[in-house]
Amino acid sequence: MEIKLMGVLYNVLLHNAQTIFDSASPQAEKIKGLTNGFIWASSAVMLLVVVLSVYIPVKFRAKTGTAEPKQTGGNRKLEMLMIGIPMLLVIGFFFWSLSVMSAVLPARDNRKPDVIITGHQWWWQADYPAAKVTAANEIHLPVGRQLLLQLNAADVIHDWWVPALGGKMDMIPGVTNYLWVTINKPGIYEGACSEFCGQQHAWMRIRVVAQQPVDYKRWLAANALAGKAPTDSMAKAGQALFVNASCSSCHSINGSGAKGLQGPDLTHFGSRTTMLTGLMANNPENLYRWLSDPQKVKPGANMPRFIFGRDSLRALTAYLSHLK
Ligand code: CUA
Repeated sequence: MEIKLMGVLYNVLLHNAQTIFDSASPQAEKIKGLTNGFIWASSAVMLLVVVLSVYIPVKFRAKTGTAEPKQTGGNRKLEMLMIGIPMLLVIGFFFWSLSVMSAVLPARDNRKPDVIITGHQWWWQADYPAAKVTAANEIHLPVGRQLLLQLNAADVIHDWWVPALGGKMDMIPGVTNYLWVTINKPGIYEGACSEFCGQQHAWMRIRVVAQQPVDYKRWLAANALAGKAPTDSMAKAGQALFVNASCSSCHSINGSGAKGLQGPDLTHFGSRTTMLTGLMANNPENLYRWLSDPQKVKPGANMPRFIFGRDSLRALTAYLSHLK
């Protein structure tokens, strides 16, 4: 029997909550099982303690007219039980945890990572080494395959956690961590950076787009292509601005000449449904707002404010939005 209460409570209180009780991977399923085990065992212990601490004072309270009962000390059997039961519980959970850990984090055996995910203040970079694709923020993964994620950090400690997909893993500068994930069914899986990493930590959302292998392959192939060349004059002007102004010193757009590595790769920016790590929907209005005053939209972000006129802002918006 499962404890669904926590999951239900979460979903009632917070719409679309991220909860381990909605597991969508064998790894998350194992973690959920262990968590349920802990909840059941600790609830049973708590119930026993509460019941006894109510029952005993009531049952054995002093009654008028009765003498003080015989005082005793030491009871080997009782003491063995009091020490033995908790010890058995702890030992049991120790081995159960070990088995879950080895199932969730099996040996890597020199296997190359399928995706390298790097945490930045405050966005996610996703590199697909085999396909030579770099994406940002919306992380596409195929379902039905055991995937190895390599986790790195570019600046400070971040932490990768998509509860429905299992393990949680720190991303530490100078250290390479790995995480296995097998996704059962297609869908959008939300997560969040789980290590405080500065002003915009709360908006360092994770969005995993799990796809059928054919759709995933199509996405990968589309993302391996260079950014679409602009056709209308507005977008063309936007591209010229992007490449010649400072944008290109921080951002890459494959095929345009912009090769900056500080900020997210924007080669297929227009194909993402959200922008600014899940802060808002990706549409021209929000993009225009962001470009006109980044610090107002996402305070603390590394994107400086450039003083562009309205026409330039419109041109940049047109160019970036067309990069599907
Ligand atoms: Cu990255 Cu918190």
